[in-house]
Amino acid sequence: MKEKTKLILCLGSSCYSRGNQYVLDIVKQYIKENNLKDKIDFRGQLCSGNCSHGPILKINDVVFKNVDVNNINNILDQYFFKE
Ligand code: FES
Repeated sequence: MKEKTKLILCLGSSCYSRGNQYVLDIVKQYIKENNLKDKIDFRGQLCSGNCSHGPILKINDVVFKNVDVNNINNILDQYFFKE
């Protein structure tokens, strides 16, 4: 069985207050709408020391910086549907 993609959203106070609180809901909705629940291991993490580049999202080992409600769908589309 193929390993699940790890999708990790920073929920540290800096990233959370600068937008990941809203990105969180969008990611949950995206997973639901695209039936990705069985393919993604979605979790939050505490601050990883990257606040100055945040809000941060990690997909497997790739770090996405300055994530926000306007670019999150593009990031997810690129990763999951345009590989
Ligand atoms: S709070 Fe997200 S990297 Fe520090």
